[in-house]
Amino acid sequence: MLEKMNGHAAVAGTVTFDVLGPVGMICIDNPPVNAIGHSVRQGLMDAIARAEQNPGVKVLLIISSGEMFSAGADITEFNGLQREPSFQRVESEIESSRYPVVAAIHGLAVGGGLELALACHYRVAHRNAKLGMPEITLGIVPGAGGTQRLPRLIGTRAALDMILSGAPISGVDAKTKGLVDEVAEGDLRDAALSFCKRLLDEKLGPRPTCNRTVDTLDETTIAAARASHARALKGRTTQDLVIEAIKASRLPFSQGIAIEAALAQKSLASRESLALRHVFFAERESGKLPGASSAVVKPVQPPAIRRVAVVGAGTMGSGIALAFADAGLEVLVNDNDPSALNRSRESVQSAYASSVKRGRITQSVADERIHRIKSNPALADVADADLVIEAVFEDIELKKDVLSKLDYLVPPHRLIATNTSTLSVTELARATAHPERVLGLHFFVPAQASKLLEIVRCDHTSPESLSTAFRVAKLLKKIAVVAHDGFGFIGNRMMLDGYWREAEQLLLEGATPAQVDTALENFGFAMGPQRVSDLGGNDVGTKARIQLFQRESRPDPYFVIADRLTEMGRLGQKTGRGFYRYESGSREAVPDPEVNSLIEKLAAERGIKRREIGDQEIVERCVLSLINVGAMVLEEGVAARAADVDVVWTSGYGFPRHLGGPMFYADTLGLPNVLHRIRHYHRTLGHYWRPAALIERLAAGGSSFEQWDKTSASQ
Ligand code: COA
Repeated sequence: MLEKMNGHAAVAGTVTFDVLGPVGMICIDNPPVNAIGHSVRQGLMDAIARAEQNPGVKVLLIISSGEMFSAGADITEFNGLQREPSFQRVESEIESSRYPVVAAIHGLAVGGGLELALACHYRVAHRNAKLGMPEITLGIVPGAGGTQRLPRLIGTRAALDMILSGAPISGVDAKTKGLVDEVAEGDLRDAALSFCKRLLDEKLGPRPTCNRTVDTLDETTIAAARASHARALKGRTTQDLVIEAIKASRLPFSQGIAIEAALAQKSLASRESLALRHVFFAERESGKLPGASSAVVKPVQPPAIRRVAVVGAGTMGSGIALAFADAGLEVLVNDNDPSALNRSRESVQSAYASSVKRGRITQSVADERIHRIKSNPALADVADADLVIEAVFEDIELKKDVLSKLDYLVPPHRLIATNTSTLSVTELARATAHPERVLGLHFFVPAQASKLLEIVRCDHTSPESLSTAFRVAKLLKKIAVVAHDGFGFIGNRMMLDGYWREAEQLLLEGATPAQVDTALENFGFAMGPQRVSDLGGNDVGTKARIQLFQRESRPDPYFVIADRLTEMGRLGQKTGRGFYRYESGSREAVPDPEVNSLIEKLAAERGIKRREIGDQEIVERCVLSLINVGAMVLEEGVAARAADVDVVWTSGYGFPRHLGGPMFYADTLGLPNVLHRIRHYHRTLGHYWRPAALIERLAAGGSSFEQWDKTSASQ
């Protein structure tokens, strides 16, 4: 083992330098993710300078403390000018070092983290490390040499694929691709120090990546890469800049890197990147309460939730059980109907069998997870659980009854959550003696796979209960957004009163389902509203609206088409008929003249005159109504931040992420323009287009939703 000669020295608050015999060990220590911000860049420069002054140092090792090598450049610095030393300068200093420089990679090395490692002469990675270039998910071209050095190491085709996918590869795969030189099986530091020793023994010197040659990127490869990432990159433009940058890697390095820098700057200034960065930070912020310190609402210790009870073994209850079992928790599924428990067991087994078949997990992992889920008809057994989730039928009296029994059985400091999408959580909580420990956890279907979790709070919900709910979301790796109790919470309220209602209205006025769906899919939605309705089941929507109407009703016309389809048994894909027709075994939505006739009849009954409607009007009306109801949700306090609304819609309802969510998109349109068009539709279409007071106020004051969030946060 190499001996430690000098003492430990912190060269910046975030970088330390140690001399271990001939090894100068530079350690990045910038929690939580070792982002490479100004202080790390300066620290690296200082450490290299110190190594230069030490005649004993013959090799440099860059390693990190904490859970990962580095999550990349500090994204919070992207909005301003980068302070010197620039990332490129630090890398050039490393690459031109007269000693060999080795990167030791554990956890994640992504974005700038990987770029830093690429600028080193050698790389040792732990077998479980993950190496990737996720910049494209933020609408950015890697700007610290990634598009120039990665092709030099693994070839242009593999580099293009890695950068366009944004997905990381393992340490083992990285070795196969030629991205790393050695894979560490055990302790990374020991392996890296041994690697350094070997370099010295074998007299292997610096090996600058920039001096390597690179193959040419041909048009066939580009076309194939575009095609294979087309779905994920629909409507986006960063890939064009990435391709241009990788093409430039065939030029001398100094020219290529200059082209990359210009393209990276261009991408940073794009709307697409601003929107994607907005969503990135909004998703992290939504897991915290406005004004609350993150220590209060984000777990610093591993959560003390190990055993969860789910009451109600229907589709939702079973999906929730799967979600917790996937996260490694013990789950007890309770239902007083033994046949429901049997069906739940079968659905759990078939879900895992399908995951194994698709190669997502191995059979032994599936067996382990199945083993974690127990079922039991005795309600009293849930008393031992750290968390209880009620997921019985959407029936207020049934839910109240179950909750009051749970309240009696479960110790008062434990959280009881109700999984409802339609009922008043306030009213349900009032059925218990401890309403402060009751809140809503609105899971989306399928509960085990959907990203979003709406946490529904009431006036009496305690901060501890909210904190636990955030912890639950973190455990499940879901994106949490807090909604105040109200009709449809955040997402469904905006969908029903805004977006979907307008889509139905357009059908009554003359558009076809295919026209509406295609226009909105071309705008960027993952799937148009009628196709979604057919997928989820028109009956599901009808039932939900019946429940919601017990809270507040809505005047006709309100989903008259979908409800009539339900009455006719046209429930969607599951019955082969819905807004569209589906051939047996096919998911292809085929337009159905019968539906057009039905829509014409419903329109005539309401005296609605039908006409040709253009795609632009379809998109404008659906999106503006979404924005308008979103603003109402904010002014009513159902959502606390416009950014939360954006998170709900980008993570749960298929709004295009690269447009930043409805409220961010409204800001980019300009609120005076938004208001002008909403007023136009208010005049032409009637009262339900009443402009939200918040939009009127913000537009009059020259403000924006972003500004509104900032002002609210500072109050
Ligand atoms: N720069 C600055 N801050 C970053 C960051 C970066 N590159 N990556 C993460 N953070 C911050 C987050 O904003 C969060 O801050 P907060 O606690 O104030 O909310 C904190 O680090 C923890 O991140 P979080 O995402 O909550 O933790 P996680 O364990 O769930 O995920 C990562 C960790 C690294 C997977 C995830 O943060 C990520 O994907 N980061 C971006 C990586 C990237 O795209 N890098 C390319 C930029 S060059």
